[in-house]
Amino acid sequence: MTTTTPFLTGQEIRDRFLQFYSQYKHQILPSASLVPEDPTVLLTIAGMLPFKPIFLGQKQSDFPRATTSQKCIRTNDIENVGRTARHHTFFEMLGNFSFGDYFKEQAIKWAWELSTKVYQLPPENIVVSVFENDDEAFKMWEEIIGVPPQRIKRMGEKDNFWKAGPTGPCGPCSELYYDFHPELGDDDIDLEDDSRFIEFYNLVFMEYNRDADGKLTPLQNRNIDTGMGLERMAQILQKVPNNYETDLIFPIIETAANIANINYQKATEKTKVSLKVIGDHVRSVVHMISDNITASNTDRGYVLRRLIRRVVRHGRLIGIEGKFIN
Ligand code: GLY
Repeated sequence: MTTTTPFLTGQEIRDRFLQFYSQYKHQILPSASLVPEDPTVLLTIAGMLPFKPIFLGQKQSDFPRATTSQKCIRTNDIENVGRTARHHTFFEMLGNFSFGDYFKEQAIKWAWELSTKVYQLPPENIVVSVFENDDEAFKMWEEIIGVPPQRIKRMGEKDNFWKAGPTGPCGPCSELYYDFHPELGDDDIDLEDDSRFIEFYNLVFMEYNRDADGKLTPLQNRNIDTGMGLERMAQILQKVPNNYETDLIFPIIETAANIANINYQKATEKTKVSLKVIGDHVRSVVHMISDNITASNTDRGYVLRRLIRRVVRHGRLIGIEGKFIN
């Protein structure tokens, strides 16, 4: 990365995203609760979830465009938390949304402007992916933005067709990846290689509804739904080796390390994993409780209980015992 890329705090990254889209007439909305109105999921898993009825044409939006920093929880990768550089249960998703207003070309142009002008990522450090048959998106990246074709990758349904669940609004997507090692060249680009690439911004061209039989029906409107991982952008701009060592999570890790009398930098890998799990899960637990979720044996209450138990277990593993009051 060139040295001109700024160091931005998590708060600055969030503010700049919202301000950028606000100048382009997006209404800044507060994060919705982690307890979704949508009965098909236990927790808010993406920035688009509060807008699902609008995308489905069941509700009118008060605004044609919106932007949010949405608190989210996903537990499908819970075993990877602390073990990889970027898996979380709790994270914030920065998003810009168009409800039947602008579509693919404008979303791509703004995503590029935000990434390269506001966050000042060097263009040569960005690789993009498109859905395998989305020639239109490929052409826009190549001809309008100027991304070299060898740095535009076509990917299949698993990676580049986004859906919130088995049914509901969905569509092909295009993702922006940060390349930590552009000097390795364009010949063997493998976007699954997370020692080289991190996906940081997903642009969903949401134009279908999927029914229970998997049938796709065009939505009444063509919409835009995007998600940028705040923690991932913080890793990139704070130049740290993983999301946990950003200012969004590291203060929690340091507090747990102090309680356990551990120096994080000198700790073993196993201890670091426990500290990262604690850093991640404490965020989930605090935000769940502040959204009025209580620990129980069922549904989201069980998710909370499991997260608390995992924090306690990892605390014990690093030697924290008994009560701690500061
Ligand atoms: N809805 C876009 C995303 O979650 O990436």
